[in-house]
Amino acid sequence: MKKVIVFASGTGSNFQALADHLAAHPVAAIVALVCDQPQAAVIGRAQALGIPTVIVRYRDYPSKAAAEQALLTRLPAADLVVLAGFMRIVGETLLAAFPDRIINLHPALLPSFPGRTGIADALAYGVRVTGVTVHYVDAGVDSGRIIAQAPVAIAEGESLTHLEARIHAVEHVLLPQTVDQLISKGAI
Ligand code: GRF
Repeated sequence: MKKVIVFASGTGSNFQALADHLAAHPVAAIVALVCDQPQAAVIGRAQALGIPTVIVRYRDYPSKAAAEQALLTRLPAADLVVLAGFMRIVGETLLAAFPDRIINLHPALLPSFPGRTGIADALAYGVRVTGVTVHYVDAGVDSGRIIAQAPVAIAEGESLTHLEARIHAVEHVLLPQTVDQLISKGAI
């Protein structure tokens, strides 16, 4: 069975959605959660599922490369790394350790609205359609090759909170589906 490491920084609803999907469709196992925020809710989710968590405090290291190097020594072997709400740019050390094996979930239709505030930026711009993207991670910000996308139409006068909830609901389907398909078709 393929092995997946999930990186997350916050609530972890996408981590949960992926774990739930893999419990029902066991094409892969989540072998570790990596979290950079010791208080994040995602850690409790991993504990509840019995998934080992690796907490990395980047500020304890002199550089991102040093933090990633130390992190690598604590990680199990894996076929795929999934960034699911991981709020850091992955550096060259991790990219080199998992070449073409790191994917990211982004809450907009890339290449539009990259960065941390993709949902709010799309709403403020006034686009009628935004959505969700799963893409390979490269050295840029949300710039790697696109694997899957799903559109979300923005309603007239829709609030940010409402749009966020609808985007997240789409994420919770697209991410597990994409991971499943990558594995099923032998792409990883
Ligand atoms: C998601 O919207 C993801 O696209 C973004 O951060 C959010 C994480 O949410 N990068 P959660 O922690 O999975 O609930």
